[in-house]
This record gives sequence, C-alpha cells and structure tokens, in this order.
Amino acid sequence: MKSKLNLGLLLVAFVCVLACGPKKENNETETADTTAVSNEPKEFGEADGKKVSLYTLKNSHGVEAHITNYGGIITSLMVPDKTGKLEDVVLGYDNLADYQKDSPYFGALIGRYGNRIAKGKFTLDGEEYTLAVNNGVNTLHGGKKGFDKVVWDAEKITTDEGEGLKLNYVSPDMEEGYPGELKVEVTYVLTDDNSLKIDYTATTDKKTIVNLTNHSYFNLTGGVKGDILGHEVMINADKFVPIDSTLIPEGQLESVDGTPFDFREPTAIGARIGEDNQQLTYGGGYDHCWVLNADGEGMTKAASVYEPKSGRLMEIFTTEPGLQFYSGNFLDGSLTGKGGVAYKYRWGIALETEHYPDSPNQPDFPSVELNPGETYHTSTTYKFSTK
Ligand code: BGC
Repeated sequence: MKSKLNLGLLLVAFVCVLACGPKKENNETETADTTAVSNEPKEFGEADGKKVSLYTLKNSHGVEAHITNYGGIITSLMVPDKTGKLEDVVLGYDNLADYQKDSPYFGALIGRYGNRIAKGKFTLDGEEYTLAVNNGVNTLHGGKKGFDKVVWDAEKITTDEGEGLKLNYVSPDMEEGYPGELKVEVTYVLTDDNSLKIDYTATTDKKTIVNLTNHSYFNLTGGVKGDILGHEVMINADKFVPIDSTLIPEGQLESVDGTPFDFREPTAIGARIGEDNQQLTYGGGYDHCWVLNADGEGMTKAASVYEPKSGRLMEIFTTEPGLQFYSGNFLDGSLTGKGGVAYKYRWGIALETEHYPDSPNQPDFPSVELNPGETYHTSTTYKFSTK
C-alpha cells in the first residue's frame, strides 16, 4: 500500500516537473521535439487506398528538398540566393488533392516513357503495342496513369553523400499498355555541395521500353516571383531534334548553328523565343529535345540556368543523351500553386534529362529497349550555387 502511495507521489511530482517547470526548459523541450518530428515523414493524405507521406531531406547548409511518395514528386526545393536567403525554386502545390486534381507533372517522376510516343503505338520483336493516347494524337509521359500518379514505397536513407529517399514501384505487365513487369527504383540524395542527385534503375521480366525522368518546373527567382524569360540558359548541345506540329520528331537531328536553339553560350530564354521560326511555332516556344554533346560513358554537363537577380545558378549533369527544355508555354495562370501563386505563361521551365522523344519508332535514335537480365541505370544531378 505504502509503496503504491510513494509511486503515486512520484508520478505526481514527475508530471509537475514536466508541466510546471521553468518556461525556458519547456521551450527547449518543445524545440527539440519539433526538430525530431520534422525529420519524420509527414502525413500528406491517401491515394489508391495507400498512405501518402511527405519526406524532408536536409543538408548542413540548410538546403531542403521535400519529396512525396505520390508520384515521387519534389514538392519544394529550398536553395540559397547570393545573400544566403533560402527560397523555393520549384513549382508545385501545398496539398495532395491539388496534385491529384490537375498537375502538368509538377516535380513528378515520369515513366514508363518520358516524352511523346507517336499515336501511342510501337513495335517490339514484330509485336505492336498500343498505349492510351493522352496528348492530342500521341501518348505523353507514360499515359493516363503514369508513374507520376502512383504511390511508391518509400524509405528514408542515409548515404555517405547525404540524406536520401529510396522509392520503389513495381509496374505490372501491360500496365498502361507497356509489356513486362517493370521493377523500378529511384533514389534522391541531397548532398552537402547543394546537389540533388537522382538515380534511376529498372529491370523487366519481358522485353520492354523505358525512359525515366523527373519533371520539376524550375523558377530560380525564389518563391516564383515572375516569368523565366530573364533566366540565362546554357545547353551543351550542337544539335537538336526537330519536331512536327504534334511535337513528334521528324527523324533527323539538326545543327543548332544560327538558330534560336543555339544555347552553347548562356543566353536569356526571352532573347529569341519570339522569333519567326517554324520550330518555335510548333513548340509554342521552347519545347524540344537537345542532343547532348556527351563524351562517352559517365556524367556529362548537360545545361546550366542562371537567374541574375537572385544570383542562383543551377547546373545539370546526366548520363542521358537528351535534354527536353520546355519553357512553360502551356502555363496560363489557371493553376494556383504553393502560397496562392498563380502560375502564369512561362513562369517555370522543365529540363528533363532523357532519351529522345518517340525513340521506339525512330530506328536511328539511341535505343530505349530493355531486356530481361539487363538493368536500366541512369543518373542526373541538379547542382545549386550562386554567382
Ligand atoms: C512537354 C510539354 C508538355 C509538358 C507538360 C513537357 O515535357 O514537352 O509539351 O506540355 O511536359 O505536360
């Protein structure tokens, strides 16, 4: 009895220390708790009956990437300007419902096939496959429900280079019309030199095609303060892929020499986007794939983007042969994103590292076929600094 009483008193005293202790100590406790909690994944809703979470990757400079396992979407990316001010440099939404309702692939992982496949058809070993047509007469970015709209298994990881998020998705045989069960793994790692590295791997149990990318829309002003026409772009490419009026490659690769597609020297996006040029008309601005000057195996510097007011510089390195540069020509102010900002005409750019559009139907383009026993592996790094 006595010992029970003592225990009770002890409990009351303990609760009192927690509840009535000095204010400072309380605050310290709260701060510590908040920090601990903010590293945990946050609930972000539900899709396909599965829990969706929001993960935070941080580095020692305060850079943060927020990524959800719905579509593997990078929802925000906080990087410093030349004064050290951390601001968000990607377009996106505050909540899952908006991503589910209407998103032009903001921040998402794209698969099985990033970019367009003409009329949603391709042939493998004599067999014709038909995909859903979701962009005029063509298939775009995986079809009706691509990898941007599925819930991935997610695991927060710690690597030698920094915090990461490992995402896995198994795409069943014939999902969206693509043959083979495709096992996909995508890893995001935020390093201490302010790089976000993305690694993509995939294996199949039947011959198939695959072309994975990320579809972040960047605006380096920070907090998306206006259009991207003053952003200076460099693309390490002597050639680009000309397209027809449905944005499907004509087959040949053309020199950028003397065209508004020559970005070998950093040039403001707005400098030539209004020129009277049939390719620009077809794309509604820039919406083309550049043939990167790759020097063989390994990572190549694909492009850089510099925003003079903030001083932010983004460099892109990749193992991929192509870069789709899309200047946000279909944004029209009808989508309201994070913090109530309406995303207007050309307020964001996508720079998608990938194989060329419609490669399955273009015998002269690098192959996108994957066979059982092979592993698809590509890497892309977005590196941020200031100047
Ligand atoms: C395509 C654009 C398309 C955009 C959003 C880009 O990758 O090239 O034509 O409008 O994605 O879907």
